[in-house]
Amino acid sequence: MSKLAERYGPWAVITGASAGIGAEFARRVAERGINVVLVARRRNRLEALASMIEDMYRVEARVAPADLTSRDVVQVLQPALAGIEVGLLINCAGFGSAGPFLDMDPSVQESMINVNCRAPILLTHEIVQGMRERGRGGVIFVSSVNAFCAARGMANYNATKAYDLLFAEGLAAELRPYGVDVQALCPGGTLSEFQGVAGLDTRNFGPFARLMFATPTSVVATSLRTLGRRVTVIPGFLNKLTVLTMRVMPRRVSTWLFGLVMERFAAGS
Ligand SMILES: NC(=O)c1ccc[n+]([C@@H]2O[C@H](COP(=O)([O-])OP(=O)(O)OC[C@H]3O[C@@H](n4cnc5c(N)ncnc54)[C@H](OP(=O)(O)O)[C@@H]3O)[C@@H](O)[C@H]2O)c1
Repeated sequence: MSKLAERYGPWAVITGASAGIGAEFARRVAERGINVVLVARRRNRLEALASMIEDMYRVEARVAPADLTSRDVVQVLQPALAGIEVGLLINCAGFGSAGPFLDMDPSVQESMINVNCRAPILLTHEIVQGMRERGRGGVIFVSSVNAFCAARGMANYNATKAYDLLFAEGLAAELRPYGVDVQALCPGGTLSEFQGVAGLDTRNFGPFARLMFATPTSVVATSLRTLGRRVTVIPGFLNKLTVLTMRVMPRRVSTWLFGLVMERFAAGS
């Protein structure tokens, strides 16, 4: 049995498993012998991934199609969680949108808060109770380097990611005495469907930005390698440097700078 399965098995719940970083988490966790519950809206994607995982890694994969904006998100997922012991929860589902806040649909902004913040805390409250009783387990919140800085054009997204970061850091301190590891994973730009959904056009990214882009493979490898050893994890040297720079700058300067970058990346600019 792998070390990961010993510490965080026998089941993992992964939200956002239909694409990008979440799908990579599902493959890497299953590869180490942990059964997976795959959560996202696109059932066909989840079914294809589940069947690939069962064939390749000889673990069980359950599919749980769900919209995480739903008010009763915990009840919706109850059937998929019935009768299993979850040792690892990966709150990865999330999305962003770029543009001036007042020009955007407020219901989409509300949905962003529901998917990025509300669903993770409700699922954590439900699922981590068992981990605390058993004295072992892990929870990963996928935050972002955006959590460390405000930006015009991404005001709400950055605020949701700052929420995830601070919530994870507080929860880590609460759960450490019970043997439950909490991680705030803060990736920088990572190649996935995220940019398209957010209205960011990768063709506008200059060579330096492209250099900074990671793959879901490297982000997930860093996360799983450091789980239980570090709470706040920023994959990649350049991202660490960016966060350090933002931390030492006056906030109004970093907000202005980050806003410039976001404007440049916005589609059509
Ligand atoms: N890519 C980056 O540059 C980057 C950088 C830093 C942080 N992050 C964070 O990383 C996480 C994963 O993003 P990604 O890059 O893998 O993006 P992605 O490829 O767009 O994947 C997003 C996932 O979230 C799911 N999702 C979105 N809305 C949902 C909803 N209402 N209900 C259920 N599931 C929903 C999507 O599934 P369905 O559409 O099938 O529902 C998909 O599986 C996000 O939290 C994001 O904020 C990304």
